[in-house]
Amino acid sequence: MPERESDVAAHSADDHRPARDDGAIGRTGDLRRRILAWGLGFLAVLVIVVLALPIISVLQPDYYRRYPALGQRMDNWEVSTHSRISCAECHVEPGVGGLLSFAARSIPAFYSQLVSGPDTTNLLVAPGREACQKCHTSYRSVAPGGDLLIPHRAHVEILELDCVVCHKDLVHSLNRRGFNRPEMETCLEQCHDGDQATDECVKCHTRKEAPETHAAEDWLAIHGAKAEEQDCGVCHDWTPDYCADCHEKRPASHVGNWKKDHAPHALKRGDGCLVCHGGQEFCDECH
Ligand code: HEC
Ligand code: HEC
Ligand code: HEC
Ligand code: HEC
Ligand code: HEC
Ligand code: HEC
Ligand code: HEC
Ligand code: HEC
Repeated sequence: MPERESDVAAHSADDHRPARDDGAIGRTGDLRRRILAWGLGFLAVLVIVVLALPIISVLQPDYYRRYPALGQRMDNWEVSTHSRISCAECHVEPGVGGLLSFAARSIPAFYSQLVSGPDTTNLLVAPGREACQKCHTSYRSVAPGGDLLIPHRAHVEILELDCVVCHKDLVHSLNRRGFNRPEMETCLEQCHDGDQATDECVKCHTRKEAPETHAAEDWLAIHGAKAEEQDCGVCHDWTPDYCADCHEKRPASHVGNWKKDHAPHALKRGDGCLVCHGGQEFCDECH
């Protein structure tokens, strides 16, 4: 045992000797290793910054405030129902896949914005329905007011529409009536045009059936005067300027060779014709 102990002592002394001889070289080796480690560390930080900075930045409301048009859209978010829902909750789809695909889109988008400013090609895209479904899983088929029927399952699960097809004014903008709700024009313009899907009022509304007044034979001639007796807006004010808006549509009377055949109608209706045509100048163009 003692022999071995001295052996060990001798060996360890031997082991140390060469190290003492190579001292200078060892120190430069250490230095190189340290530089390399620092270099690699720095590179790792740089890579993280280059990759993480875009992802974090594009999810900050303040990032957009330097651009007037987009700043306004962030201000709208601040006063929307979703003001306490973070940007990432809607704009990053659930799961690791969602995060990766968000990174793949937002990193090039960020650098493209640095160079050329934001435009429609390098902005965040509208959230898909999976993002909304993180929080909203069961839907009503009648809006809280009771007048509007909106079978969500049929639209979301069978037709597979994304929520934002209808809820496009949800956070960053207001609809024409000043709300974050979907608007009727979207339904009528996109699908419910009477061909692809019904445009009958009573298929979507429970309280907007045409009232008895409308059955009068001369309704088209007298409805303007009736506006003082009845609140027409209850059913017609889905556009802000509903009298004028409806009068922009070509009326049913204008059929056939109307350019030539309007004479008998004109004689019967007199000034009634001018209501939609702005005034006598329109008629004078031909007469
Ligand atoms: C409740 C969900 C929701 C939240 C929260 C939300 N967004 Fe959006 N975002 C949308 C929807 C829906 C759209 C697409 C419709 C639109 O452009 O308004 C959109 C569109 C965008 C666009 C594209 C804008 C354009 O002009 O094309 C940007 C940029 C954006 N959001 C950034 C943000 C930022 C930043 C936040 C956090 C302050 C945020 N969003 C929070 C739902 C959300
Ligand atoms: C992180 C959770 C979360 C996400 C993601 C989310 N919401 Fe909401 N949403 C809420 C909460 C909370 C409310 C408020 C409920 C209340 O006040 O009764 C709400 C309210 C609503 C309302 C009713 C209020 C209103 O402003 O009309 C609609 C519609 C709505 N969300 C649609 C969506 C759509 C569409 C998306 C996807 C673009 C979405 N939400 C994403 C949590 C979320
Ligand atoms: C076909 C159009 C359409 C689609 C698609 C759609 N919605 Fe709606 N949603 C509406 C309409 C219209 C209302 C009623 C708004 C009102 O109250 O005036 C509504 C109301 C809501 C409300 C508030 C009423 C309630 O249930 O308390 C929520 C929340 C909502 N939608 C979430 C969603 C989500 C999440 C999706 C996607 C998974 C979605 N919607 C898809 C049209 C749609
Ligand atoms: C495809 C479904 C659909 C059809 C068809 C439809 N509407 Fe609407 N309507 C809507 C939606 C969605 C809104 C928006 C609800 C909101 O703002 O809360 C709306 C809103 C309205 C509003 C304003 C909000 C209110 O309740 O006062 C009026 C008025 C209205 N509709 C009348 C009509 C009349 C009249 C017809 C027939 C000419 C009609 N709608 C046909 C879906 C429809
Ligand atoms: C749903 C669509 C619609 C709405 C809403 C509407 N109008 Fe009309 N208006 C018409 C049509 C259609 C005609 C007749 C066109 C024709 O002669 O063929 C007409 C014609 C008129 C005329 C001429 C009548 C005549 O003697 O020939 C007046 C006046 C008038 N509208 C006033 C109003 C006022 C005021 C409002 C709002 C309170 C209103 N209208 C809302 C569709 C509408
Ligand atoms: C309770 C709902 C309701 C009320 C209130 C109402 N309307 Fe209507 N009105 C309707 C419906 C439904 C239609 C037929 C849907 C369409 O536009 O195609 C209609 C159609 C019309 C038309 C077009 C008729 C045609 O043959 O082209 C005119 C014009 C009109 N309304 C004017 C008025 C005026 C003016 C008032 C107020 C005095 C009024 N309405 C009040 C529901 C209503
Ligand atoms: C409800 C509104 C409305 C009323 C009321 C109305 N018009 Fe028109 N008229 C229109 C619209 C909309 C057009 C189409 C304009 C266009 O296509 O640029 C039109 C087009 C015309 C044209 C152009 C020829 C054509 O075929 O495009 C003539 C002529 C005309 N109207 C005559 C009349 C006469 C006469 C009356 C009275 C009997 C009348 N209009 C009442 C809305 C109305
Ligand atoms: C696009 C050109 C055009 C416009 C605009 C036009 N008209 Fe005419 N109108 C005619 C023509 C052409 C005739 C002749 C038809 C015939 O004799 O067969 C006519 C005939 C008439 C007649 C029969 C009496 C006559 O002078 O021969 C009346 C009334 C009339 N138009 C009223 C109107 C009124 C009211 C307006 C404005 C709302 C109007 N027209 C706008 C082309 C037009």
